[in-house]
Amino acid sequence: QASRNVFVRIWARQKAIKGGQGDYALSITQPIMEFFEKYYNTDYPLSKSDQIALPDFSAGAMENWGLVTYRETALLYDPKTSANGNKQRIATVVSHELAHMWFGNLVTLKWWNDLWLNEGFASYVEYLGADYAEPTWNIKDQIILYDMYRAFAVDSLVSSHPLSCKEEEVNKPAEISQMFNTISYSKGAAVLRMLSEFLTEPVFAKGLTVNLTLYAVDRTPQLKLPHRVHDIMNRWILQMGFPVVTIDTGTGNVSQKHFLLEPNSVVEKPSEFNYEWYIPINWMKKSGEQDQLWLLQKSAVHKPMKVSRGQWVLANVNVSGYYRVNYDLENWERLLSQLNSNHQIIPVINRAQILDDAFNLARASIINITLALRTTKYLSLEKEYIPWEAALRSLNSLFLVFDRSDVYGAMQAYLRNQVKPLFDHFTSITGNWTTVPLGHNDQFTQIIALSLACKTGLPGCRDIIKAWFRQWMQDPDNNKIHPNLRSTVYCYAIAAGGVEEWDFGWRMFKKATVAAEAVKLRSALACTREPWLLNRYLEYTLDPEKIRKQDATSTIGSISSNIVGQPLAWNFVRARWEYLFKVYGTGSFSFSRLINDITARFCTSFELSELKQFQKDNADVGFGSGTQALQQAIEKTTAKIKWLEDNKQQVLQWFISQSA
Ligand SMILES: *[C@@H]1O[C@H](CO)[C@@H](O)[C@H](O)[C@H]1NC(C)=O
Ligand SMILES: *[C@@H]1O[C@H](CO)[C@@H](O)[C@H](O)[C@H]1NC(C)=O
Ligand SMILES: *[C@@H]1O[C@H](CO)[C@@H](O)[C@H](O)[C@H]1NC(C)=O
Ligand SMILES: *[C@@H]1O[C@H](CO)[C@@H](O)[C@H](O)[C@H]1NC(C)=O
Ligand SMILES: *[C@@H]1O[C@H](CO)[C@@H](O)[C@H](O)[C@H]1NC(C)=O
Ligand SMILES: [Zn+2]
Repeated sequence: QASRNVFVRIWARQKAIKGGQGDYALSITQPIMEFFEKYYNTDYPLSKSDQIALPDFSAGAMENWGLVTYRETALLYDPKTSANGNKQRIATVVSHELAHMWFGNLVTLKWWNDLWLNEGFASYVEYLGADYAEPTWNIKDQIILYDMYRAFAVDSLVSSHPLSCKEEEVNKPAEISQMFNTISYSKGAAVLRMLSEFLTEPVFAKGLTVNLTLYAVDRTPQLKLPHRVHDIMNRWILQMGFPVVTIDTGTGNVSQKHFLLEPNSVVEKPSEFNYEWYIPINWMKKSGEQDQLWLLQKSAVHKPMKVSRGQWVLANVNVSGYYRVNYDLENWERLLSQLNSNHQIIPVINRAQILDDAFNLARASIINITLALRTTKYLSLEKEYIPWEAALRSLNSLFLVFDRSDVYGAMQAYLRNQVKPLFDHFTSITGNWTTVPLGHNDQFTQIIALSLACKTGLPGCRDIIKAWFRQWMQDPDNNKIHPNLRSTVYCYAIAAGGVEEWDFGWRMFKKATVAAEAVKLRSALACTREPWLLNRYLEYTLDPEKIRKQDATSTIGSISSNIVGQPLAWNFVRARWEYLFKVYGTGSFSFSRLINDITARFCTSFELSELKQFQKDNADVGFGSGTQALQQAIEKTTAKIKWLEDNKQQVLQWFISQSA
């Protein structure tokens, strides 16, 4: 395919190309290139653009100039077996890599210490390019879920680090690998998006085209900024973390504080900016009034934010700023009652924000956990994807600490009730789950309805799923399960089944010719509740004939996300540490994810001491690119132990009170 004079090709296994799996990527490459040519105001610098899918590739993709390499799932799309989530991933990854053809390749950074600018930038503009190729998806909003929340999670730990570090701190290959992390990609994207929002997108893009340096924009005459861009941005780039902005609507007092998940932890690393930021605050009121305020000191009184009964203030509209927001209790109450009466007045992204901020403020013991739990009450009215996904993630961290405890039963009962209206809604609009809705995001919400209903045991859900899977087992060449629903269906069917279901899933996995289908099966095989099957599966990860090397650590991760598999995976990793380290420890980006996955449920003193013992026992082998992740795991476990002591009883009481 030719874009002006650029020759565009997609390469992959012959069978995949013949099956049309490269067609989708081909169809979006040209529009995305056109978008970036306009965005950068610079022609694509080469005469050709090849994109190749490699069957075994450890990263997601790699932006070699003119010949981008991809994992198969990031490039190949088969409409008959791939889900809409797979399609979205292809659009965003292709867009990300093409963005690098200019930023990263045409111009590049002096050294790895500033990697964040390269990766953060591509991670931000990938949404813009994908939005141009797929304008009906509303994909720009999803940066909240896929980058901001991810960044907040690690950047609220004392073990975090600034976006940029000194050149001399990054030398060894493992140190360079370690830079390819959530901070560089996702915080980088979030901070650049904030900059683009307060400069406006045209000014931001123009700043790039002048010299591909963001700071040229200070010369833009119509900009009214309180400081030079350089001074504003340094506070976000050179110090780690981010603020929580607290608004007291009783007085109009607006203040900021470094947000840390563990309130008693001490930050050893001093910051030349004292952990204060220049913060752009977009806010709105119930009346519809909107404005922007810059918070430049620790606190300031802003009279328009003083409101009285019936009125509320909502700050960080569309979460365009990289910070969390807290309010006085009265304002929280007014926001909650707004959600429960007419939630649509609050922008959809901010409905997600209210949930996510509340749960994280509660984790940090800044607000009461019962207040956070109450933000989920209105979900019985919610039909939109972003708030539901935000809720699911907050609830998932509750599941992780409570699914082995006495809170679990009451929590299940409450959530079963909350998801029922959503499940019924999709039952009715999809003719008893025989079709999927048209809207791209509605399709994601449908998946949430099905998986949360099955997870909480809503009557009807597991039976449908088991029946679908049975049907497939009886006629393996004719899989009628809709691609969007397959991950959920496979997982719950294999969880409910035994060795027969597992072995069938394994055969289908080995036979799968579409990578996206193989991924769904591989991860579903980790859902069985049979310990012997899980242990056998763990052993398979050591044999590249059974599980490809690129997939080994994520398979172990999937097994540990299963409540039965978690202790098995932890034992397995400890027993095989030397081997795992030798094979994956230095080059691979997936290594830190493995540590996150196997420690995600840790929340007792016993588990903390096991973790510290593990660190001690393997000190001479080392942890390679997982070193930071291990430190974070220790910090997170410590915080959870303390939090549970203070909050567990309240959580239990609240869930019980809801079903009374
Ligand atoms: C671009 O930035 C570099 C480094 O700061 C500077 O030397 C060069 O003169 C700039 N070019 C333009 C066209 O502004
Ligand atoms: C505003 O709130 C901050 C943080 O709670 C506090 O330190 C400051 O004294 C308050 N300012 C006024 C004028 O009340
Ligand atoms: C917030 O986002 C929505 C949806 O993306 C958009 O329509 C709206 O204009 C945005 N509002 C502001 C104040 O940016
Ligand atoms: C949180 O709120 C609940 C219910 O309103 C109350 O019983 C509890 O004491 C509060 N906890 C704290 C730490 O304030
Ligand atoms: C869906 O199932 C219900 C109950 O089994 C049945 O009454 C209804 O007619 C079905 N609807 C469709 C569209 O098949
Ligand atoms: Zn990249």
